[in-house]
Amino acid sequence: MTKSLTDINSSIDIRTCGINLDHWYVVAQSLEVTSEPLEVVVWEQSIVLYRDEQKKIQAIENSCPHRQVKLSSGKIIGNDLECAYHGWRFNSEGKCIFIPYLNDRNKLPNCQITSYLAWESDGFIWVFLGDPKELQRTSGQPLKIPEWGHLNYIATVSIIECQGHFSFLIENLMDMYHGHLHENYQAWNSAKLVKLTSNEKRVDALYEIKSYYKIDKIWSIFQLFFPRLRQLHSDLLQVNYIYPHWMSTLGDDFKIYCLLCPINNNHTRAYLIHFTSLNAFERLHKLPIWFRRWIKNSLFGSAQKMLDGLVKQDIFMIEQEQQAYSNDIRQQAYEINPTISQVQKIIKKQFQLYENN
Ligand code: FES
Ligand SMILES: [Fe+2]
Repeated sequence: MTKSLTDINSSIDIRTCGINLDHWYVVAQSLEVTSEPLEVVVWEQSIVLYRDEQKKIQAIENSCPHRQVKLSSGKIIGNDLECAYHGWRFNSEGKCIFIPYLNDRNKLPNCQITSYLAWESDGFIWVFLGDPKELQRTSGQPLKIPEWGHLNYIATVSIIECQGHFSFLIENLMDMYHGHLHENYQAWNSAKLVKLTSNEKRVDALYEIKSYYKIDKIWSIFQLFFPRLRQLHSDLLQVNYIYPHWMSTLGDDFKIYCLLCPINNNHTRAYLIHFTSLNAFERLHKLPIWFRRWIKNSLFGSAQKMLDGLVKQDIFMIEQEQQAYSNDIRQQAYEINPTISQVQKIIKKQFQLYENN
């Protein structure tokens, strides 16, 4: 049962608020993780990822217990990770299993580093840094992205790398009045908030908007490249903050996910995945699967210019917000979109839940 957003500690500053680690966070795209170690960071914790012999993702603390150097400088031997410095080896549970110069008089030191739960699905790698017991009690599996493998959806991925607290990014994503910023890349205008609901896990906001894009003709894709082909029409824009991630649905044609990886207090990475739906083209659905897959793969990234353009404009603003906050933490912001206060309450509540565990 979900609880209400009561008893939130008002002394928590939203711009320095921590995260609830008892959730899955996205740390990389699947194709980034190979049999070479890869360093990723979540909320100041450095983790080394690699694929073992079965191609399964392993995630362990990125610090050799011998001298605290990064294990990501080492290499993978079979299913284990070998430190670059003196060659100590660690298995996927983080246990030291081999030291090349160990003699008969020595025993393997009983050193153990943390291993994390890792999950690969829908093109991304997720890690869970919290208490595994909490995992059973709460979120279970990471957020599903069914459109990733679905033949009717064309994906584009853009990486958000911004020098700002994650709250600035989520507020940007939930406040649809900021369409003002996007000019040529703008997918909608005239947003009007018509419904807002929230609990301690999520905020759901529904906006009425005027949308520029409609994917109902085979040539609709050209609207991405030629603004003159875009025609304003009324539509609904749903945005959902499902802690700690975000998703949005624009009419029948577009779906966007933003998968968060907060790096630290003022550095946030996120993966923005945009899907264009081909649901309207029934004749296409009757074509052979291999051909539909070829279309899906060939059109991957077709919204790249637009998505990267939007991201650049958003980052520019978010980093200014962070800078203004860092220059004067007492500065007061004025807000008239009620979505923002709900978002801030959830961020604080989730941090409190983690702290009180
Ligand atoms: S520092 Fe890793 S083996 Fe020595
Ligand atoms: Fe934006």
